[in-house]
Amino acid sequence: MISEKFPSFEAKITQRYKKMRKIQLINGPNLNLLGVREPSVYGDTSFESYLTTLKEMYPQCEITYYQSNIEGELIQKIHETGFSFDGIILNAGAYTHTSIALHDAIKAVTTPVVEVHISNVYTREPFRHKSLLSAACKGVITGFGLDSYRLAIEAFLM
Ligand code: DQA
Repeated sequence: MISEKFPSFEAKITQRYKKMRKIQLINGPNLNLLGVREPSVYGDTSFESYLTTLKEMYPQCEITYYQSNIEGELIQKIHETGFSFDGIILNAGAYTHTSIALHDAIKAVTTPVVEVHISNVYTREPFRHKSLLSAACKGVITGFGLDSYRLAIEAFLM
């Protein structure tokens, strides 16, 4: 059938969108306290309950989640998943602004990494305006609350 040989642009996009993806979500220091920590900045939803919603919204994605307050453990997780997953979504918390080691880990792997932030770091203290990770990442999403993670998933489905 001609429509099978030359699928429409829309059909191609739909096909691509529905393709199974393995996505690793990584949260860094203090993000285990989401829902409790500075709710005026980070909201009052725990990451675990948001994660349940995300998994329901994206049945075509196998989403795994890891959180650590320890820089070396975050690096380890990037190494572990960075050659086999389709995408890594990384909120490195304050390590974003300090960690050359995380920058190097992102560069060392083949899986693309999207840097996310819940708050808009550019409207906050000047020390948050500099990211040592952005240059190693595929892209950056900042300032959309927890929805930043969902937007990062969308970026991997395109
Ligand atoms: C954050 C912003 C960082 O500056 C901060 O250290 C965090 C959270 C965010 O998601 O908005 O811990 O990454």
